[in-house]
Amino acid sequence: MTCSDEASPAFDYARYLAAKTTVDDRALNRHVLAELCRLMPAGAPRVLEVGAGLGTMVARLMDWGAVGAGEYVLLDEDRRLLDCARRWLCDWAAARGLRGDPLPDGLRVGDLRVRLVHAELGSYLEAAHGARADVVIANAVLDLVDVPTVLPGLLRLLVPGGVYWFTINYDGESIFAPGHPHDDLIVQAYHRDMDERFRYGRPAGESRTGRRLFHYLRAAGAPALAAGSSDWVVSAGPDGTYPGDEAYFLRSILHTIQNALRGRQDRVEPADLADWLAVRGRQLAAGELVYIAHQLDFVGRSPG
Ligand SMILES: C[S@@+](CC[C@H](N)C(=O)[O-])C[C@H]1O[C@@H](n2cnc3c(N)ncnc32)[C@H](O)[C@@H]1O
Repeated sequence: MTCSDEASPAFDYARYLAAKTTVDDRALNRHVLAELCRLMPAGAPRVLEVGAGLGTMVARLMDWGAVGAGEYVLLDEDRRLLDCARRWLCDWAAARGLRGDPLPDGLRVGDLRVRLVHAELGSYLEAAHGARADVVIANAVLDLVDVPTVLPGLLRLLVPGGVYWFTINYDGESIFAPGHPHDDLIVQAYHRDMDERFRYGRPAGESRTGRRLFHYLRAAGAPALAAGSSDWVVSAGPDGTYPGDEAYFLRSILHTIQNALRGRQDRVEPADLADWLAVRGRQLAAGELVYIAHQLDFVGRSPG
């Protein structure tokens, strides 16, 4: 599948999200997942996933038997990514021998109606809405938005007592091995960039979203019923190759850091950044680069 980013042909966001699938498969916290499965309403629930990207989570939840019928809404601000999602899910369904029938606003996968909604989350929460969801999911998204502003609206999208599952929330630790003298400088500058990012006129993310969610959820009247770590751990196998497309995933992580810091000479000298990226690129090519990112998952119920 090619759904390339024309603004930056070196970086294909859809491919990055597809490559991330196996990394997330390993990382998602199984204790928190078991609690989600226990809380998941029987029958045909209405699930809303915000910042859903390519739709890899709905595929995973079908594979893992957590959802199978009802309605699953994929909401994302990126229309092109939603177009990719339609194709990616059709291919995924075909590979499993499932029906993947197109619908005017999405597709039917087996017994599940998947709807694609193009919207920016903040604007979506401000607008009036119809039916509320039984389950709201956000995977690798809440660290990209202003949680104190967004969270109350997100919980209001749920029926009273509805279930949230907020996963892969970055929590301020990135480890690259083997160590490099510029690691601390680079990671600290990257965290600062995350903490100062603004989009849509609002703060857009925090480098310590994971640990802060304990408090934010409690303050919103929806303390977590289960929480646990969901660290990304990426390394090559004994033969020096990375699983699946995870070498591309690692390249994308390096590219993201490069993009965030290349205009910030005040924080990282361009020569230091170039040296760090060159060393990391060589280690990646040789299958020597190990990457670990600390993240946290949460499951709970909306107030009421
Ligand atoms: C890191 S990706 C994660 C995608 C998907 N959840 C996954 O784990 O594969 C973040 C996604 O959130 C979407 N996103 C970020 N900010 C958003 C916002 N304010 N409103 C709607 N979508 C947003 C992006 O377009 C992107 O698809």
